Amino acid sequence: MKNVVVIEKMDHMGNGIGFINGKTVFVSKTIPGDKVIFEVIKETKTYIKAKVKKFIERKEDALSAFCPYYYKCGGCQLQNMEYEKTLEYKKERVKNILNRVGITPVIEVIKNENDKNYRNKIELKVSDGIIGFYEEGTHNIIEIDNCHITIACINTFIDDIKKMNIKNGDVTIRCNYNDELLISIKTEDDIILNKEDYPNKKVVGIILNDKCIYGDNKFIDIINNTFFEVAYDAFFQVNSYINSKLFAIINDNVKGKNVLDLYSGVGTLSIVASKNANKVYGIEVIPSAVVNALKNAKMNKRDNIDFILGKVEDKIHLIKDKIDTVIIDPPRKGLDQRTISKILEIKPESIIYISCETQKLSEDLKSFIDNYNVKKVYILDMFSYTYHCESVCILERR
Ligand SMILES: C[S@@+](CC[C@H](N)C(=O)[O-])C[C@H]1O[C@@H](n2cnc3c(N)ncnc32)[C@H](O)[C@@H]1O
Repeated sequence: MKNVVVIEKMDHMGNGIGFINGKTVFVSKTIPGDKVIFEVIKETKTYIKAKVKKFIERKEDALSAFCPYYYKCGGCQLQNMEYEKTLEYKKERVKNILNRVGITPVIEVIKNENDKNYRNKIELKVSDGIIGFYEEGTHNIIEIDNCHITIACINTFIDDIKKMNIKNGDVTIRCNYNDELLISIKTEDDIILNKEDYPNKKVVGIILNDKCIYGDNKFIDIINNTFFEVAYDAFFQVNSYINSKLFAIINDNVKGKNVLDLYSGVGTLSIVASKNANKVYGIEVIPSAVVNALKNAKMNKRDNIDFILGKVEDKIHLIKDKIDTVIIDPPRKGLDQRTISKILEIKPESIIYISCETQKLSEDLKSFIDNYNVKKVYILDMFSYTYHCESVCILERR
C-alpha cells in the first residue's frame, strides 16, 4: 500500500524515521515499532516529511497522549512515550549530538518532579478570535482551553482572555510561586478589560503593547528561598522546579573567587554564584532585566555583584579582573566568535555552559575542547514531553 511505513528509529526532533523506496520518511508523533499510513507534508528527492493519517500497528508500549490536542498541536512531541522513556530518548539524543563532535561525557539526567502542569508561562496566539497554539508545521491556530503541561492557574485564565475581545494578536501569561498572574498582550484591537470578570484570579498586572494598563509590569518569584523580581519582558526559566536544580548545580560547581555570568537575565545565576564567590559580574542586554537584577541582588543582600547592561560581545572586554569561572547561558543562537575568543583569552579555570539548543551547544563546545575537558553534562528535563532539554556542561581547564 502507498504511504505506509514502519518506524525504525527516531531523529533529534522527536520524529519517527522509516524508509520507503530509497527515501527517508520522518513521521511526527511516532516511535519505533509503529506502522502508519502517513500524509506527506513535504517531499524532496531524498526525504519525506509527514504526519500520521492512521496507525495500522502501534508499538506495544506506545501511549495514548494525555492531551486531546497532542496530534494536532505543534507544542509537544513526546506524549506517545512513558515519561521515563522520554528521558532515555533525551539522554541518547544529547549523547549522539555531542559524540559527533568528539565529546563523550558522563551524563546525568535530572528528571522533572511534576512532569505535567509544570510551565509557568504560556504564549498563546489569537487569530480571528480563536485562541490557541500553532498547529504542527503550520501557522493555523488550533483552539485550546487547557494546556496540559502548563500550571493550572494559567489555564483557568484562558477563558478570561476570551472576554477581552482580542481578534488577532499574541497573549503571554506568566505565573509565580503564589499563582499570581502577569499578562502581556500584543494586539491592534480595542480590548475590553473588566477586572470584575475575573474576581478570583490573582492578576498582578496587564501589559498592552508594552504599556502597563493594569497593576504592575513585574512580579516577584521565589526559587530556593531566593527572591526574584521579574519584568514581563525579562527571561525567566519556564520550569521553577528544574530551575531550582540548575541553581544547585551552579552552587556545586562554581570554582574560585571571581565569576563572570554571561547572559545574566534577572541575575538568577549571578545571585546563586555570589554565595561562594568573591566577586560576580553579570552581562545582559535587556534593560528591564538588568533593573530587576540590581533589585534582586539588593533583596537577597548580595553586595558582591556588578551587572553590566549591553551585549556580551560588546561588553565582555570591560572585565579586567582575573576570572576563575565563566557561566554561559546564551539564547538559542549560542555564542558568536568574538565572545568565544574573549573567553579563551580570559582562561577561566572552569566554564559552565547552559544550553537549550544542543546542536548549537555542540558547535560552540568544539572551540573549547582543545583547552578544556568536559567533566560532566547534566540533562535537566526543563521541557517535559517535548524533544527539547536543557543541558549544563561542566568544563575544566587542562
Ligand atoms: C537563556 S537566557 C538566560 C538568563 C539567565 N541566565 C537565567 O537563567 O535566567 C538568555 C539571556 O540572554 C539575554 N541576551 C540575548 N542576547 C544577548 C546578548 N547578545 N548579550 C547579552 N545578553 C543577551 C536574553 O535577554 C536573556 O536574558
